[in-house]
Amino acid sequence: MSRSAILPLAAARFAGPMTTTRPILVLGGTGKTGRRVASRLRERGHEVRAASRNGPARFDWSDESTWEPVLKGVGAAYLIDSQLDDAAGTLRDFSRLAVDGGVERLVLLSNRDWVVPAGEEKLPSERVVRESGAAWTILKPAWFAQNFSEDAFFRRQIVDGDVVTSAGDGVEPFVDADDIADVAVAALTQDGHAGQSYELTGPRRLSLAAVTAEIARATGRRLTHHPISPADHMAYATGRGLSEDYAALLNTLYAWIGENRFADLADGVQRALGREPRDFTDYARHTAATGVWHR
Ligand SMILES: NC(=O)c1ccc[n+]([C@@H]2O[C@H](COP(=O)([O-])OP(=O)(O)OC[C@H]3O[C@@H](n4cnc5c(N)ncnc54)[C@H](OP(=O)(O)O)[C@@H]3O)[C@@H](O)[C@H]2O)c1
Repeated sequence: MSRSAILPLAAARFAGPMTTTRPILVLGGTGKTGRRVASRLRERGHEVRAASRNGPARFDWSDESTWEPVLKGVGAAYLIDSQLDDAAGTLRDFSRLAVDGGVERLVLLSNRDWVVPAGEEKLPSERVVRESGAAWTILKPAWFAQNFSEDAFFRRQIVDGDVVTSAGDGVEPFVDADDIADVAVAALTQDGHAGQSYELTGPRRLSLAAVTAEIARATGRRLTHHPISPADHMAYATGRGLSEDYAALLNTLYAWIGENRFADLADGVQRALGREPRDFTDYARHTAATGVWHR
């Protein structure tokens, strides 16, 4: 479909009626996207239940006694997968409870299509949500720009002036968490998004060296990107406090960037919202002004 055909359709959705007056549950309500989804919903007058282990409404994937209370009276829910071993099974149990309790809409924050060993299903949580019986929307974002400002490990590197990765000169179409939140809010509150999977990327591919240069320009600081080997990165990351598991995951994600595996630009923001995604330069300029990269 051409861009000009997409825009009027998306604009019609955007102007659509608000379809739930019941509270909206936002899992991961303290995280990079959940926090933004919750505040946008509140600004629009919705009653929001922002839930997580440390959020205003207590919710813990590992403690099923916290599930039913956060679902009480809810009409729609924003879901972020648990990082538990059986994440899809856990999500299935939670989705059943939600739908049985009257939740009509589920919006899942998923991932781009990770490649898994032969014979295994890709992203099984997506199937759980598709088969839940609720109207569903799935968000499939690229790396968030906000990792560099809202994740302690990455932010520290910017503050220290040395961005150290094993991504080589590969590129990634970083997406802004504000765009993800705008799409989530549209899917939670407006008609026209049910049954849609939205691949969400920014408008440009950037290497880690380019990201570093963008942030250096925005902050006026000297920043250097150091591409190193996965083995050296493992030592570097664990030396700075990451667990071996998390450092290994990061190496895998960097390897995918290194081979440009998910470098394609997608049109999910345009399809859902009828506008272009925010550029990394814009993110870097606004974030630099908050001072977060100087502390
Ligand atoms: N970051 C990226 O670049 C990126 C890109 C694509 C997809 N994703 C996906 O986005 C999701 C979130 O990632 P993120 O980087 O946005 O993480 P994040 O900012 O750290 O947010 C995670 C949220 O989950 C909550 N949480 C963690 N463990 C929990 C538990 N056991 N029970 C209930 N809530 C729990 C956290 O709050 P509390 O600590 O208060 O519990 C927090 O609100 C992941 O599924 C990730 O795969 C991320």
